[in-house]
Amino acid sequence: MPIVIGGKPESDFSDPIGMLGDCHKRIVRFLGVLVRLANQAAGGPLSADERAMLATRLRYFREAAPKHTADEEESLFPRMRRIDSSEIDDVLARVDSLEQDHACADRVHAEIDRLGQLWLAYGQLSPQDAAHFRELTGQLDTLYRHHIGVEDREVFPFAAKVSSRPSGNWRRNGGTPRNRRGRPSGCA
Ligand SMILES: [Fe+2]
Ligand SMILES: [Fe+2]
Repeated sequence: MPIVIGGKPESDFSDPIGMLGDCHKRIVRFLGVLVRLANQAAGGPLSADERAMLATRLRYFREAAPKHTADEEESLFPRMRRIDSSEIDDVLARVDSLEQDHACADRVHAEIDRLGQLWLAYGQLSPQDAAHFRELTGQLDTLYRHHIGVEDREVFPFAAKVSSRPSGNWRRNGGTPRNRRGRPSGCA
């Protein structure tokens, strides 16, 4: 189990839905740092601390966060589409729109990463690039607030409810959400 000093213990592999929720908290926290840098440093020279923060948050969204999306798209969502339940249609409509959000977020992340790497390489951004970086981080912030809200409040609770049913379709279809390697990858 990941160790969190002074915080609530994080979920482990016995609670894959909880692990996805923990990833959301990290996404919100790390995106918040990018938004703050975009608004406060505004493409200008960065302190050593700010450079480190920018580099680690860019790396997180480049390398770790895609594993969270893969856990949802390759494991959780396909299993939900196999659930036989009268309540599932509304949830599946949500899932379709969540996948569209993922594609949109991927494009925005790629551009944020490109601009962030420019910022790190040259020490500052042009006024146009700085404005674009700020606009993109703001877009992602809005997208994730809605996206994570839908997952946390509607999709994950439904998945958890179905998986907890002794004879639920979830179990008949192969167990709780896992990726192709046989266990949730998480996004730590
Ligand atoms: Fe998602
Ligand atoms: Fe998610």
